[in-house]
Amino acid sequence: MTKSLDGKVAIITGAASGIGEAAAILFAKRGARTVVADLDEEKGEAVVEVIRQAGGDAFFHKVDITESDQVRSLIAATVERYGRLDCAYNNAGYGGPAAEIADTEEEEFDRISAVNFKGPWLCMKYEIEYMLQNGGGAIVNTASGAGLISMPPLAIYSAAKAATIHMTRVAGLTYAKRGIRVNCVCPGTVNTPAIHAMGIPDVENFFAQDVPMGRLGTPEEIANGALWLCSDEARYVTGVVLPVDGGRVA
Ligand SMILES: NC(=O)c1ccc[n+]([C@@H]2O[C@H](COP(=O)([O-])OP(=O)(O)OC[C@H]3O[C@@H](n4cnc5c(N)ncnc54)[C@H](O)[C@@H]3O)[C@@H](O)[C@H]2O)c1
Repeated sequence: MTKSLDGKVAIITGAASGIGEAAAILFAKRGARTVVADLDEEKGEAVVEVIRQAGGDAFFHKVDITESDQVRSLIAATVERYGRLDCAYNNAGYGGPAAEIADTEEEEFDRISAVNFKGPWLCMKYEIEYMLQNGGGAIVNTASGAGLISMPPLAIYSAAKAATIHMTRVAGLTYAKRGIRVNCVCPGTVNTPAIHAMGIPDVENFFAQDVPMGRLGTPEEIANGALWLCSDEARYVTGVVLPVDGGRVA
């Protein structure tokens, strides 16, 4: 197995569940010292345990990515423990219920936009601040196929993900000459707790029928895209929006 992240230190947000959990386990397997960052301490600590049992190095850090001070502390704790930060996978997200615009409460609007747009911005802000002073790095955001094509009724989630896609491209170009690569993955529908929380009956078949490959994605398949973008194998890649979706947006 290639240790494509050997010697590197990686932060993964939303790493207590789903895609982030799979990414934390994969990044650690590929040699990264890994920070499992999430709101959910119990599940996050369980992911750390899985990594350690497999011989990897990881610790949990509790963070709400919508809170500036907490994101700053995440970077500081990473550097304090591991001495550096090379890769960040800003993956935490929140879909909310599958409600139409007229049925969405203002509080839901605020939460969906904060977690999916402000959060990645805050993470990038403090990651980039560190990376600019310390030899660069690689950042990957998790956006969504819903940020590329219309998937009713997810208007606010889709708009927040579209904003993150555009922010990724601009960030990629802004820091291209300063050693920081910024890319994003756009998962198709992936079988994680998030889709089962949407309140859609028979949710797996509901989404699978629109996928050219005829099935949902696995968290590991998305994690592999993020791994490659974080690794030096992608050293000439920045500002890229990579769908990992069984052909859905094509
Ligand atoms: N599952 C899908 O079909 C799908 C499709 C496209 C995009 N995505 C995106 O992929 C990412 C991961 O989704 P998933 O399906 O693995 O979801 P998930 O619900 O399984 O995991 C999300 C994790 O993020 C954490 N989180 C939520 N809000 C947070 C906050 N404010 N601060 C820190 N952590 C927070 C949660 O505690 C949870 O552990 C999200 O950005 C999601 O929008 C998922």
